Amino acid sequence: MQQASIALDPAFTIAPVSRRTFGSFVEHLGRCVYTGIYEPEHPTADPDGFRGDVLALTRELGVSTVRYPGGNFVSGYRWEDGIGPRAERPVRRELAWHTTETNEVGIDEFVAWCRRAGVEPMMAVNLGTRGVAEALDLLEYANHPDGTHLSQRRIAGGAVEPHDIRMWCLGNEMDGSWQIGNKNAVEYGRLAAQTARAMRMSDPDLELVVCGSSGAGMPTFGSWEAEVLTETYDVVDYISLHAYYEEHDGDLGSFLASTVDMERFIRSVVATADHVGAKLKNHKRIQLSFDEWNVWYMSRELNQGPRVGWPRAPRQLEDIYHVADAVVVGSMLICLLRNSDRVTAACQAQLVNVIAPIMTEPGGPAWRQTIFHPFAQASTLARGEVLRVEPRVAAYETARHGPAPLVDAVATHDPESGDVTVFAVSRATTEPVTLRIDTHAFPGGLVPGDCTVLADPDVYAVNTAAEPDRVRPRPHPGVTAGDGAIEVVLPPVSWNVLRLQAPPAG
Ligand code: AHR
Repeated sequence: MQQASIALDPAFTIAPVSRRTFGSFVEHLGRCVYTGIYEPEHPTADPDGFRGDVLALTRELGVSTVRYPGGNFVSGYRWEDGIGPRAERPVRRELAWHTTETNEVGIDEFVAWCRRAGVEPMMAVNLGTRGVAEALDLLEYANHPDGTHLSQRRIAGGAVEPHDIRMWCLGNEMDGSWQIGNKNAVEYGRLAAQTARAMRMSDPDLELVVCGSSGAGMPTFGSWEAEVLTETYDVVDYISLHAYYEEHDGDLGSFLASTVDMERFIRSVVATADHVGAKLKNHKRIQLSFDEWNVWYMSRELNQGPRVGWPRAPRQLEDIYHVADAVVVGSMLICLLRNSDRVTAACQAQLVNVIAPIMTEPGGPAWRQTIFHPFAQASTLARGEVLRVEPRVAAYETARHGPAPLVDAVATHDPESGDVTVFAVSRATTEPVTLRIDTHAFPGGLVPGDCTVLADPDVYAVNTAAEPDRVRPRPHPGVTAGDGAIEVVLPPVSWNVLRLQAPPAG
């Protein structure tokens, strides 16, 4: 059996766990909004039309922040279409996803939903077809308390209290040829800087996210970040990163190693941002907002050919996730946590139905996809400080990402409760791996508490409406405690959560 080891030391801290690492994303795309979060005819709907079952699962998922309204959707969006009496809202063609948008849900409904779900709204402005003026209008509408034309329109619509949205994205994926109104780095950088400067005149404390490349594979990746940050460094707080992974041609080994690529991506953006800061002699550190990440079988989507017709809330991007997908999502969470010194915000894309942890049937049930579980466990149990653990373990060769360690892990330590949680994935596909956890650095050591594993003899097993709990974390059968160490047998292709505590006194 392969052996792996990590050492836990409360002194080896990376950064505090940022709650915003556990963000999600609601886009007007497919059935994310309509028959996802909102379905007035649904038996569980509340008086505002929000599905109660989806709200409950969102709370259970432990989502902190939710980005809205896109995504590609935002680059053609007129925010004012979604305010005022519903009967008067225009129905429009939506070009990014080739659908009909009814505008039944707009900013006020979204913020009301956020309050009910207990999450922080994160709003994107349209810098595709629009610019500074419309961003300022939206900001005034959303956040100005009272006494101006736009704030009074909000109040007239029933939202008496300002929405007080703190985090704002300056457009979406503006380098992408698929993006409505896409731009080159200088065009976008200048527009983003002008918009940010003007928004700060309204409220200097906003937290602003400038668009990085829409992916590390873009031909302009690196130079885009450098040019855009050169224009915007002093007026933004975050630069965005987006990454999606999928299994290609049955190459499970490469797929499981996706975070080798994700880690490189993060390091490259940190290096580029710091380089720009050095050139500008600006000591501020730009934070990273990984505001779209997930497993997405995008190649299936691209193979479908051009969309025809203008359907309302069609089934789009409804990937069904299996065990290996959940393990990759778990490893992405490990990667985000490990980089908590710079990645202080992240959004899994998306929340419901569209490449999502939560699935629904119109008029029917809502259930947890496999990828729900690693997210919910990490968001619930990652507390306090992130600890640096350096797994000592053999690597295997992958076709797409080079060598990848068989095991990846991170730990968090809550100094108040003394609890430690280890999150570990095994990328081994056939054999179990024994992970030895050295706890000597904790006075009195640590003993295992609740420990779970998500694995299955069939790594392609899924959850469905008929069998919603086929794949879920189960009590870990392979944990033993010894002298100053804990040993865990990690099954092949597994996500493991190990809760460790100080031993009982005496
Ligand atoms: O999340 C789906 C899409 O992926 C988003 O609309 C876009 O920003 C990205 O390309």
